[in-house]
Amino acid sequence: MFGPPGSGKGTQSVKISDKFGFIHISTGDMLREEINNKTEIGLELKSYIDKGELVPDETVIKMIASKINQNLSSTGFIFDGYPRTIKQAILTDEILAKNNSKINLVFSIDVDEEELIKRVTGRATTSNRTDDNITVFQNRLEVYKKMTLPLFDFYSHQKKLIRINGMLTVDGVFSILKDEIENCLLSNIQK
Ligand code: AP5
Repeated sequence: MFGPPGSGKGTQSVKISDKFGFIHISTGDMLREEINNKTEIGLELKSYIDKGELVPDETVIKMIASKINQNLSSTGFIFDGYPRTIKQAILTDEILAKNNSKINLVFSIDVDEEELIKRVTGRATTSNRTDDNITVFQNRLEVYKKMTLPLFDFYSHQKKLIRINGMLTVDGVFSILKDEIENCLLSNIQK
C-alpha cells in the first residue's frame, strides 16, 4: 500500500487485514513502537521520524525480514507504507522469493495535497504523533516524492500497480480495494 502521508494507507490496511486475515505490517507503527518503548533502536531513530526523513533502509529491512519469518504460515501480508525506496523494494522481493512468495498487488492511493493537509492536521489533535504538524508534513511529502514515487515505475513495469482514487470515502476506497484483491485471489487460484 503506498501513497503520500495521510492518504489512508493505515486506515485501509486495517480494513483489508480484518477482511482477508492478512498480517498487517506497518513500518511506521513498528518504528513508533520502538520509540515509545524507548528501545536503543527507537532512541536512535526518533530524530529521523521527528524530521519526516526516512530511517535507514538496513534498519527497516531487518525489521521486515524478521516479521515475515515470524509469520511464514500466514495467508498473506499487507505492507503499509513499505517499501519506500527502490532498495527496500528489491530486497523485499529477494526475501519473499526465498520463501516462495511474491508481491501480488501494489496500490497507490491518490489524494490531493489540500485534502492530505486537512487529514493530517485533523488527526494531529488526537494522534500524539510528533510528525503530525504542517512543517514536518511538508517534508514528509517532499521525501515521498523524491524517494518513494520512483517505486511507481518500478511496480508499473512489473504490471502490479493499481491506482486508487483516495478522495472517496473510507468505505468507497475500501470497496475498490476489496474487489481488486478478490479478483487477484481468484486469478491466482485459477492459475
Ligand atoms: P508512516 O507511519 O508510514 O506515515 P505516513 O506514510 O506519513 O502516513 P500516515 O500514517 O501519516 O498516513 P496514512 O496514509 O497511513 O493515512 P491514515 O490512514 O493514517 O511513517 C512515519 C515515518 O516513519 C516516516 O516519515 C519515516 O520517518 C518512517 N518510516 C515509515 N516507514 C518507513 C520505511 N519503509 N522506510 C523508512 N522510513 C520509514 O489516514 C490519515 C487521516 O485521514 C486519519 O485521520 C484518517 O482517519 C483519515 N482518512 C483516511 N482515509 C480517509 C478518507 N477516505 N476520507 C477522509 N478521511 C480519511
